[in-house]
Amino acid sequence: MSENTQTLQLPFSPAREAPDRVVVSDAFELLRSLAPASVDLVVTDPPYESLQIHRARGTTTRLTTNWFVTVPNERLPELLREVARVLRDDRHFYLFCDEVTADVIKQQQGVGAARTPNGARRCACGLTFWKEILWAKTTLDGSRIRGGTGYHYRAASERILFFEKGKRALNDLGVPDVLMAARAGVPGPAVKPASLVRTLIAQSSAPGELVIDPFCGSGVVGVEARALERRFLLGDIDLAYLDPALAALAPEGAVVARAAQVIAEAREPPQLESLAEGTAPPDELDAARACGWLQEDGPSESLENLLELRPKEREPAVRRFLRTEPPRPREPDLLRAWRAWALNGRRI
Ligand SMILES: C[S@@+](CC[C@H](N)C(=O)[O-])C[C@H]1O[C@@H](n2cnc3c(N)ncnc32)[C@H](O)[C@@H]1O
Repeated sequence: MSENTQTLQLPFSPAREAPDRVVVSDAFELLRSLAPASVDLVVTDPPYESLQIHRARGTTTRLTTNWFVTVPNERLPELLREVARVLRDDRHFYLFCDEVTADVIKQQQGVGAARTPNGARRCACGLTFWKEILWAKTTLDGSRIRGGTGYHYRAASERILFFEKGKRALNDLGVPDVLMAARAGVPGPAVKPASLVRTLIAQSSAPGELVIDPFCGSGVVGVEARALERRFLLGDIDLAYLDPALAALAPEGAVVARAAQVIAEAREPPQLESLAEGTAPPDELDAARACGWLQEDGPSESLENLLELRPKEREPAVRRFLRTEPPRPREPDLLRAWRAWALNGRRI
């Protein structure tokens, strides 16, 4: 996603006393780089394939946030296998997803009706599947459930699949399997509410233990792990939305646009054709030159590449480009406004 970022140096093996880290890395590479039985808790929210369904239907994901590449269903078994490998014994794993992906994972893992005497179900990856926890989405004030999309009962929940390796009791046995929380309301794709993440970490880890999220997005898992005095390791291929509170941990050179606070009124860039043809107003042509879309002799390769995309793919690619290309010193105000649009998704 981001070409201009520092990648993880492999192999990475978190020692007991290892400091908290945020890395730019493919999730699968990050997991593969970890030693077996080296992690105490995994809480993650992969960009699962069925998000594309919601996007195609024009739900909130498409309208208010930037888009990201998805992990195809056929790679999910590899994800679960790696998580099972890196977890220590007697540990938990939470995976956020929707009902479609929950079905896919259960089928892939051979999770059916058969249960062990304690009511759990064994997975092909070696973990035990306990149940789906529901995140019930509330209004901002938390007073009622907020209905989403769909016509066969409005979608008002997301799933959190709860797995176990070995045997570990939850820290508070009284917490119900429906967790109420309003949407996070901070910029970034599918950011999960802090209160929800905090509950999962508090339930399934102890102070000093290592919590990881290889698809960290805003890094809410790290923010909450820190608040609960757990250690953390976060990874993502794009740190643009990283919570400003974690910016100091990001690798040097990584683009952490949200932390850098693109303070400008958001403006959507013009049609790219008008830039390539030179028919856009002079300030837009200046901004396009400043971000590397135009060179002395016409459109650059990066602009040509964007022009080749179909309209549906072009907007997310333009946003990604503006978010992940490192800002240069003394950029024109208009380019900063385009970057603000790319970051927060608002149209002005
Ligand atoms: C659903 S979002 C996670 C949001 C996060 N839970 C939060 O609350 O902010 C999925 C994230 O996975 C990242 N991503 C996509 N493909 C990836 C990959 N192969 N490896 C690591 N991260 C990836 C995206 O950049 C995006 O930030």
